[in-house]
Amino acid sequence: MDWYLNKKVVITGGSSGIGKAAAILCARFGANVCILSRDESRCKAALGEIQQHAKKQDQTIFYCAVDVSKREQVRKNTPEIVKRLGGIDLLLNCAGISWPGYFHTIPDDVWDSIIQIDYMGTVNTVRSFLPYFKEQKHGSIANISSALGYMGLFGIRGVFSGKVRDRRVFPNVSGWT
Ligand SMILES: NC(=O)c1ccc[n+]([C@@H]2O[C@H](COP(=O)([O-])OP(=O)(O)OC[C@H]3O[C@@H](n4cnc5c(N)ncnc54)[C@H](OP(=O)(O)O)[C@@H]3O)[C@@H](O)[C@H]2O)c1
Repeated sequence: MDWYLNKKVVITGGSSGIGKAAAILCARFGANVCILSRDESRCKAALGEIQQHAKKQDQTIFYCAVDVSKREQVRKNTPEIVKRLGGIDLLLNCAGISWPGYFHTIPDDVWDSIIQIDYMGTVNTVRSFLPYFKEQKHGSIANISSALGYMGLFGIRGVFSGKVRDRRVFPNVSGWT
């Protein structure tokens, strides 16, 4: 995992679950990491945990309390994040919500949130960081989806409608190659 040494990584949903686990691994491999999530206290708690796994003393590891569904929040914070990291090598989109239930009984506002966070949240971060990737002419974007974005499963089928953030939706944003 030498690839991660000194790399600059941004992880949405980095305060919990898959995002936090990825952040811990990146820290362990020597990367500089910024995690993005909404709840500042959870960000702080996760940051403390992630920092404990740092490989070196000089790694930059910090959080930014951002709601990825809010385009302006993402855009406003992007320059500062890239500046603190000194660039960006990897954007890892993990932020997402799940709400099990019958397709027709999931509340309207939950459907709206699924689309705004899982789908538009990914669109927002990719579009906001893309100019930096293009300028430096390198970097990677990875979006955590779900196998259930490809198939139905009783009880959580509707929830995974927002997981369509794979290569069907983001076919070729790598215009810098
Ligand atoms: N766990 C699984 O088995 C599994 C399987 C397949 C797919 N997935 C998908 O993978 C993603 C991560 O799952 P997980 O299990 O790691 O979930 P999780 O533990 O609930 O973590 C979700 C993370 O996303 C953040 N988040 C939610 N809404 C956000 C928003 N609007 N802006 C910024 N951050 C936001 C949360 O922090 P805040 O609430 O503080 O913002 C949290 O850090 C989800 O999309 C999930 O559906 C998970």
